[in-house]
Amino acid sequence: MAQPSLVFLLFLVCIDLIQAYHFKFRGSHDISSGLASRANAETQIAGSVMLSNKGDVSYYADIVVGAQTFTVLVDTGSSDLWVAGTVLKSTPTGQNASIKYAANSVTGSIKRANVQFAGQQVIDQAFLEIQPGDNNLEGHGILGLGPASGSFISKDLPLGTGETLLNRIFTQNSSTANFFTLLLGRNNDPSTFFEGSVTVGEVLSDYKAILGEPRMPVTSVVESDHVDQHLQVLLDPNGIINSDGIPIPIKTAVEQTVNKDQATVVFDSGFTLPQFPRAIVDQIYGRYAESEYREVPGFGGVYVLPCEQEVNLTLKFFGKSYPMHPLDMTMDPTSVNLSALETADGQNACIGTFQPFTYTRGNFPSYDIVLGMSFLRNVYSFFNFGKYTQNSTTIEEPYIQLLSITDLAEAHSDFVTIRLGGIDTTASRKLIPTTSSSSKHRTTYYIVAGVLGALVLSAIVAFTVLRSARRR
Ligand SMILES: *[C@@H]1O[C@H](CO)[C@@H](O)[C@H](O)[C@H]1NC(C)=O
Ligand SMILES: *[C@@H]1O[C@H](CO)[C@@H](O)[C@H](O)[C@H]1NC(C)=O
Ligand SMILES: *[C@@H]1O[C@H](CO)[C@@H](O)[C@H](O)[C@H]1NC(C)=O
Ligand SMILES: *[C@@H]1O[C@H](CO)[C@@H](O)[C@H](O)[C@H]1NC(C)=O
Ligand SMILES: *[C@@H]1O[C@H](CO)[C@@H](O)[C@H](O)[C@H]1NC(C)=O
Repeated sequence: MAQPSLVFLLFLVCIDLIQAYHFKFRGSHDISSGLASRANAETQIAGSVMLSNKGDVSYYADIVVGAQTFTVLVDTGSSDLWVAGTVLKSTPTGQNASIKYAANSVTGSIKRANVQFAGQQVIDQAFLEIQPGDNNLEGHGILGLGPASGSFISKDLPLGTGETLLNRIFTQNSSTANFFTLLLGRNNDPSTFFEGSVTVGEVLSDYKAILGEPRMPVTSVVESDHVDQHLQVLLDPNGIINSDGIPIPIKTAVEQTVNKDQATVVFDSGFTLPQFPRAIVDQIYGRYAESEYREVPGFGGVYVLPCEQEVNLTLKFFGKSYPMHPLDMTMDPTSVNLSALETADGQNACIGTFQPFTYTRGNFPSYDIVLGMSFLRNVYSFFNFGKYTQNSTTIEEPYIQLLSITDLAEAHSDFVTIRLGGIDTTASRKLIPTTSSSSKHRTTYYIVAGVLGALVLSAIVAFTVLRSARRR
């Protein structure tokens, strides 16, 4: 277990705030919190990189590959590095490769170059160089921070020559502890100002308390599925607490899980919108007045509900509660430059960020829930690779720690400030009890939405929201 080291270097990545985004989901937020007003911790650790937050829909870090700086989406759900453009000072391997995500893939040539990331220098790192295009803008890319078994590049190169960047960082210096941490900022948060950061082998000094949180073992996928190993843990039984304080029941679809009341949850910073089984999402959003399930261009199938509707939700892991900030439970589409929405009765509408799965997980899913950025903003997260580090001598089991950083009272007051103009009307907009007669009415909604959805579906299939970056 590494101790947080003394601050000895101000490692501050210069962030270009106005660069274009390389995903179709484009944010329009001006990131007004700026560098100066940011909380101090994340700029001051040697092994850290500042993240740049694009409208809460993607988080980027700068990385030097060869002789240039690239802006990469930080993705805990994949394991390879790719960049779009011509990388100066790089060496071809003569090999081509594809990296597959849930809804798309990228293909290019495997090259090697020296890489600098999080204060670490790695010699001859293998990566994929791809042709720039509409979705993959020159100078951008993805940095996968997931387990090495998910790497496509390493499979295409001779053993021991294609390891992931994190793996190389961990193994080239035996004093670098095998973990990284992630902190994601919130754009429109009136009371906290930071964009976020990634650290490797170090813990942010302001959040050292994370080292005292329960060590949650990473659950292993079955051997035949090891390329699909994600950073995943078990949710507590009755671990999804709704606004009314009552747990939403969930049964796992993961065959090898012993306690069927424990869902397997993947932490994946490549998803803007957390992915849940539809029945759970119905319970979270479907029981408020004027809420409705719809296909929304740019998002896919989501709940749409009044922006003034506060939604409270808490998740429980290892007996600890992790409350969600209500500003993370619903999202105003205009905040990411998509068209404004209205509810059926004409109120300004937001989308429910917890979304029914937008892709199929297959017949034998290895997880039940994907917690993306909306959740990850509520915790400081710590991912210890342990024996997942290839070539490392450690036999430690991999584990994850989460420190809740959402203060309920403050979060509620933020919501009242941002969405309700300072007047707390949340008491008049409570969750409708399940026995309510409105359920029949809702079924009609679903049927109508289903028909509409089928019509719209073909148009939006190509549009993959941020799961464009997913491999499943
Ligand atoms: C927002 O959308 C408008 C209209 O489509 C477009 O002209 C503008 O460039 C977009 N802004 C950003 C930051 O994507
Ligand atoms: C790799 O892809 C490039 C461009 O498509 C092609 O010219 C080249 O022949 C490919 N190389 C191999 C080894 O497949
Ligand atoms: C991993 O171990 C193999 C076999 O011992 C060795 O050839 C290779 O160079 C090692 N790779 C790294 C990155 O240390
Ligand atoms: C190895 O890591 C330790 C701790 O992060 C650092 O103090 C040391 O300088 C590193 N050694 C090399 C050769 O990079
Ligand atoms: C959400 O929780 C806060 C307390 O943290 C409470 O004041 C508010 O009324 C709740 N909102 C709803 C819709 O239940």
